[in-house]
Amino acid sequence: MNDVIIERHRTGEDLTAALRRDVREGLSAPQKWLPATWFYDARGSDLFEQITALPEYYPTRAEREVLLREAPAIAAATGARTLVELGAGSSEKTRALLDALRSAGTLTGFVPQDVSASALTEAAEAIAADYPDLVVHGVVGDFTVNLGELPGTPPRVVAFLGGTIGNFPPAERATFLRSVREVLKPGEWLLLGTDLVKDPATLVAAYDDARGVTAEFNRNVLTVLNSRLGADADPADFEHVAAWDAEHEWIEMRLRARRDLVVHVPGAGLDVEFREGEHLRTEVSAKFRPDGVRAELADAGFTREHWWTDEANRFGVSLARAV
Ligand code: AVJ
Repeated sequence: MNDVIIERHRTGEDLTAALRRDVREGLSAPQKWLPATWFYDARGSDLFEQITALPEYYPTRAEREVLLREAPAIAAATGARTLVELGAGSSEKTRALLDALRSAGTLTGFVPQDVSASALTEAAEAIAADYPDLVVHGVVGDFTVNLGELPGTPPRVVAFLGGTIGNFPPAERATFLRSVREVLKPGEWLLLGTDLVKDPATLVAAYDDARGVTAEFNRNVLTVLNSRLGADADPADFEHVAAWDAEHEWIEMRLRARRDLVVHVPGAGLDVEFREGEHLRTEVSAKFRPDGVRAELADAGFTREHWWTDEANRFGVSLARAV
């Protein structure tokens, strides 16, 4: 059988140090916030997998529809030898791409990358077992800092799916796209999934499902604070909030304190006071317009050669070539 290589750019200690920095910055700000990466420990990654199957959470199904339909076109356009997937998670949707690239006869390697070591290792092993002729080289790390050494034989397609690009604030989004461009050679590819602006009721429902799975996922960031930094946050003290920001065209997830309280975070040397009703912003998830995506890709040094959406026009996939 083929061997699975797992490369670790991030150790547990790095992670704790990064969380400590983010907590010091975000939880001492007048408007409290934390970056969206901190949901994804093993439980958070598992809860996200559950979210993708919820009736309200359409993005995963909409994107899968596009990828299943267009995978042969993606294979034909790119002739990819390596598929790199950033934020791979369970890599379920990736199978459509792997299948098409393999039947096109060009693919030799798959490079999944994720912050969650557990999710990544499971996914890499499952893919390696099902695709025995493929070199699988997993990278555990943060895609914002570890792009430098991108493995795999060119031409490569870097896939950044699910709409995760929307979790970056706009300025960081531009920096991120440029750093992806820098690790590619001219003529290599970026496959980018973007959720689209639509009616607010549909958007809010996708982030506030009836079964409360998204609420659990949101509150999981508190569990991560507790386990990594010895904090004493009680998830039951916080209410899940999902709100559409029409000016920025993004969904915000927040945790709203149900009463006046203090969260002690010894691992960051911080006591955090919340007033009743105060919000902690835990995620932004930007929604896009087709022309906006094209312009952002162009600014970063990519020409968009294909734009596809699902039948219901909810989600867009761009195939862009590095210039
Ligand atoms: C995986 C980051 C794209 O923003 O829609 C799902 C994460 N947050 N429900 C998203 C998420 C709340 C998801 N991304």
